[in-house]
Amino acid sequence: MDIVLTGDRPTGRLHVGHYVGSLKRRVEMQNSGAYDKMYVMIADAQALSDNADNIDKVKNSISEVMLDYLACGLDPKKVTIFIQSEVPELCELSFYYMNLVTLSRLERNPTVKNEIALRGFKQSIPVGFLTYPISQTADITAFKANLVPVGEDQLPMLEQAREIVRSFNTLYAPVLVEPKAVLPSNEKCSRLPGLDGANKMSKSLGNCIFLAYSADEVKQKVMSMFTDPTHLRVEDKGHTEGNPVFIYLDAFATDEHFSAFLPEYQNLSELKAHYERGGLGDMKVKKFLNQVLEAEFGPIRERRQQFAKDLPVPELLNILHQGSIEARKTAAQTLDEVKTAMGINYHK
Ligand code: TRP
Repeated sequence: MDIVLTGDRPTGRLHVGHYVGSLKRRVEMQNSGAYDKMYVMIADAQALSDNADNIDKVKNSISEVMLDYLACGLDPKKVTIFIQSEVPELCELSFYYMNLVTLSRLERNPTVKNEIALRGFKQSIPVGFLTYPISQTADITAFKANLVPVGEDQLPMLEQAREIVRSFNTLYAPVLVEPKAVLPSNEKCSRLPGLDGANKMSKSLGNCIFLAYSADEVKQKVMSMFTDPTHLRVEDKGHTEGNPVFIYLDAFATDEHFSAFLPEYQNLSELKAHYERGGLGDMKVKKFLNQVLEAEFGPIRERRQQFAKDLPVPELLNILHQGSIEARKTAAQTLDEVKTAMGINYHK
C-alpha cells in the first residue's frame, strides 16, 4: 500500500525551487497512478507557527498556493488537496505525540535549528515553531503515508517522524506507519539556491522566481542573477561550480533545450567546459537559461492565468474544503486507532 502525503506552508506564492524540489515529482506521481492514495496539504497552521501576527499573509496565500498547484498539474479529482487547519484531528494527534519527544531532541533538529537562526528568534522561539516537527508527524501519520515527496531540507523532519512512530508503536501498539522521503531524482533540484547563490529562495530577499511571474519578470530576474565574480571579461576563465546560473542550468537544462536554443553545444558539459576555459560571456548563458525557464514555466504561467480567471477565490477555497472533509474522515479513523492503542478510548 503506497500512500503519499506532502504539503507546503502558505506564506506566499510558490516558486521554481518548490517546483523542482517537490511539485514536479508530485505531478509525475499523480499521473503515473503508481500509488494507492495521494494527499497534498496546505499547511496553514504550520505557517502560523512563525506568522501569528501575520494572519492575512497566510490566509491570502492559501488560494495563491492552490492556483500554483493547479497550474503545475495537480488535479483535485486524483489527489486530495486540503487545508491543515480544517482537519482538527491533526492537533489532537500532535498533543499525544508531544509526550514522546524531548525538548533537547527538538532543539537538535537541524532544519529547525537552521530556521530559528534564519528568523533571528534567539531565545524568543515560539513554542509552536519549535514543536512543528511533531505536528508535521501528525500530518503524515494521520493518513498512514509511507511516501513523502520533499526537498532535502525536510530529511531531518522525516527522521524525527520515524522516531515518533517507532516510540508510539513500541509503547502502545503498531498502528502508525514509518514514512520515507522521496527526493527529486536530480539531486541539484533538492536544494536550489536563490538567485544570489548564497541563500535559500526567499520572498523577502527578492532572490526567487515565482511561478506566477510574467515572462518579463522572469527575464529581469535571470539577468540580475549572480554569476562568477572572477569572470569579468568574456575572455576570462570562469567557474561553473557554485555559480548560480550554472546551478540553475543543472536543475533545468536538458539536451533538448540545447538543440532547440543553443545548438552549437550538445549538452551542459560542453557549455561548462567553454565557460571554464574562457571565451563565453555571462549574457549568452543567461539568455539560454531564460529560454530554458520559459520553456518549462511558460505553459504553467498560462494555465495559472486561466485557472485564476475560471476559479475565483471562494471556488478555490470550496475545492479545498471538499478535500478537507474527505481528509478528515481518514484522520479521524487514525485518531480513533491511536486512542484505542493508548487505552484512552474510554467509552468504547
Ligand atoms: N514543512 C513543510 C515545508 O516547509 C510543509 C509541511 C507541513 C509538510 N506538513 C508536511 C511537508 C507534511 C511534508 C509532509 O515545506
